[in-house]
Amino acid sequence: MDQANGLRSVVENEALSRRNEQMVPGKKLPRVIAVTSGKGGVGKTNLVANMAVCLSQKGKRVVVIDADVGLANIDIIFNLRPQYNIRHVINSEKTLNQVMVESSHGIKILPGGSGFSDLTQLSEGEKLNLLNEFETLSNQADIIFVDTGAGISSNVLYFNSACDECIIIATKEPTSITDAYAMMKVMSKEYGTKRFKLIANMVDSESDAKKVYASLSGALDKFLNNVVLEYVGYIPFDRKLQQAVQKRSLVMDVSPESVAAKAIEKLAQALSKAPVRQTSNGALTFFMNKVFEGAR
Ligand SMILES: Nc1ncnc2c1ncn2[C@@H]1O[C@H](COP(=O)(O)OP(=O)(O)O)[C@@H](O)[C@H]1O
Ligand SMILES: [Mg+2]
Repeated sequence: MDQANGLRSVVENEALSRRNEQMVPGKKLPRVIAVTSGKGGVGKTNLVANMAVCLSQKGKRVVVIDADVGLANIDIIFNLRPQYNIRHVINSEKTLNQVMVESSHGIKILPGGSGFSDLTQLSEGEKLNLLNEFETLSNQADIIFVDTGAGISSNVLYFNSACDECIIIATKEPTSITDAYAMMKVMSKEYGTKRFKLIANMVDSESDAKKVYASLSGALDKFLNNVVLEYVGYIPFDRKLQQAVQKRSLVMDVSPESVAAKAIEKLAQALSKAPVRQTSNGALTFFMNKVFEGAR
């Protein structure tokens, strides 16, 4: 057995034994939720950050992974200035806990930097290290959000397919709708992901949001077999959210009574009530293994 294969089997055995540990009745695994979109600038980061705040106010332990390689900005709206990122973990210079920064709400944020940009380039040793580090997150979180980049680049797709749930954000702009459709098409054809959730953003009303949903689910019914899109809800267009962003802050903190904040609160409630469909075991090792499998 060559070194790479040897390491791979160590990773797999380790993953298996940890997965068994995770299966102990009563031990709850974190729910890993990807928030993604076909087109950029549709509100993923704001949704993740504000939703994280709502859920942490409800007593959930929330971790946010910033996997948007191009525009890593979750730290900006939390007004944090992280010193390190996942690259330092990959290089074994820091542990995950040393790299994560904590917001004033108690939300832990894992800055991606450019570290997630090329998982295919990681050596087996680096992968093993990353897997072990991610496993430590299992005991620290109830919910893990992955704020992914936009578009159908392979890194975005790996992350989406590895998560338990995949939330697609779309606006009523035709390009956002066609790009969201393209994302689901590629995910279902290449990664076998058959279930998605939709949140419509920057719409004027619920009926607008339902139109976004109708055009996407109509296209899915027509062209893709067995792909299910579930409507979760919407966030109205709200200048208060934009003003908050300009102040490097969150609408939930600065304008909690605004329509956007209220809508996000409702979405957080809907999400926490939704039945959890975890991928066979939901363990984080499993999550990272799937990310790596996709990258192979
Ligand atoms: N509900 C909303 N109402 C008004 N503007 C919004 C709303 N959601 C997002 N935006 C605007 O869109 C910009 C991009 O949002 P962001 O969350 O960074 O998108 P993404 O992460 O998808 O690139 C924000 O800076 C804000 O100006
Ligand atoms: Mg973003």
